[in-house]
Amino acid sequence: MKNQHLFRVLAVLGTAGLLLGAQPAAAETKATGKPAQVNAAQSKKAQSASAKVQYFVSPSLDDLPNDAYGEMVRKGEAIFYNTGKLAKPYAGNNLNCVNCHLDGGRKANSAPMWAAYVHYPAYRAKNNKVNTLAERLQGCFRFSMNGTPPAADSDVMTALVTYMAYLSKGAPVGEKMAGAGYIKMQKPAQAPSAERGAKVYAANCAVCHGANGEGTKGKDGQWAFPPLWGPDSFNWGAGMHRIDTAAAFIKVNMPLGKGGSLSDQEAWDVAYFMNGHDRPKDPRVKGDIAEGKKQYHEENCRYGEN
Ligand code: HEC
Ligand code: HEC
Repeated sequence: MKNQHLFRVLAVLGTAGLLLGAQPAAAETKATGKPAQVNAAQSKKAQSASAKVQYFVSPSLDDLPNDAYGEMVRKGEAIFYNTGKLAKPYAGNNLNCVNCHLDGGRKANSAPMWAAYVHYPAYRAKNNKVNTLAERLQGCFRFSMNGTPPAADSDVMTALVTYMAYLSKGAPVGEKMAGAGYIKMQKPAQAPSAERGAKVYAANCAVCHGANGEGTKGKDGQWAFPPLWGPDSFNWGAGMHRIDTAAAFIKVNMPLGKGGSLSDQEAWDVAYFMNGHDRPKDPRVKGDIAEGKKQYHEENCRYGEN
C-alpha cells in the first residue's frame, strides 16, 4: 500500500515533468527504509531554529509478526493510505489520512501519529471536553474527511488505533514529544494577502494541485495530488481550514519534496489564499453562518467567506 502510494505520486510527478523537484524525498524514503529519519532531516531544514532536535523513529512494519495483531496493524496502515476507498462508509471525500499526515503518519511536525497516540486522552477546546483517541480520530473523519465517523469499537477504528499504537512503540506516554502536531508560526510581518497568495500558489503549487486547486488523479483514479478546495476537499470545520494551521503545514511540507523553501510570509499568504475558496460547509452549523464562525472558528479563519 505504501509503495503503491509512492509509485502513484512518482508516476504523476514523472508525467508532470517534475521528477527533479520532488523525487528525492520519495526516493530516499524508499532506499533507506527509515522514513522517519529522513523526515527528521527535512523538518530540521524547515526549522533551522531547532536544528538539533532528534525526532522519534517508529519501528518498521517489516518486523511485525504474522498473527492477528500484525494483520490489524497492516490493515490500519492500508486504511491510513487509502482511506477514501477502504473506509468508504465513513469518508465523505476521497482524501487519505496520509495526504495530511505525511509518510504514513511518521513525519515530525506533520501531526505524526506516534506523538498523538501518547498524547490522548486530552482536553480539546474545540469541543470543550477531554477527548479519547477514538474521539480525536472521529474529528478527522468528520471535518478533514468531511464524512460520518466510525464508531469507537468499529473495525476501521480498531485498525487505525492499532496502527498508531505500533508506530509509537517505545514512545513516552503522556509527554509532549518533539515534532508533535505542527510548528508554531510567528504572526506574519504583513497581514496575509490573497493577492500575494495567488502568486505564491501559481509559482509553487499549481503544477501539482492544479490551477484551480482541483488536484490531479493518477491512472488508478485515485488522487495523486489531492485537491486543496472544492467539493472533494476538507470542510470548514477542519484544522486545515485554520490559516495558522495550514500555514504551518505548508511551511514544513510544501511544495512536496521542498519543504522549508517558502518564507513564513509566503506560507501565510498561500494558506490564506487556499482557504478563501469554496469547500464543503461545517456540518455542525445548521443555521446562521456568522453564529457558526463565532462559535467554532472565530480566529485565523476565513469561515463563511466562500
Ligand atoms: C485535510 C487534511 C487532513 C486529513 C485528510 C486528515 N487529517 Fe488528521 N489532522 C489534520 C490537522 C490539520 C490536524 C491538527 C488539527 C489541530 O489540532 O488543529 C489533524 C490532527 C489529527 C490527529 C491529532 C494529532 C495530535 O497530535 O493531536 C490525529 C490522531 C489525526 N489527525 C488522525 C487522522 C486520521 C486517522 C485521518 C484519516 C482518517 C486523518 N487524520 C485525516 C489534517 C488532516
Ligand atoms: C510536487 C508536487 C506538489 C507541489 C508542488 C505541492 N504539493 Fe501539496 N501535496 C502534494 C502531495 C502528493 C500531497 C499529498 C501527500 C501524500 O499523500 O503523501 C500534498 C498535500 C497537500 C495538502 C494537504 C492535503 C489536502 O489536499 O488538503 C495541502 C494543504 C497542500 N499539499 C498544499 C500545497 C501548497 C499550498 C503548495 C504550494 C506552496 C503545494 N501543496 C505544493 C504535492 C505537491
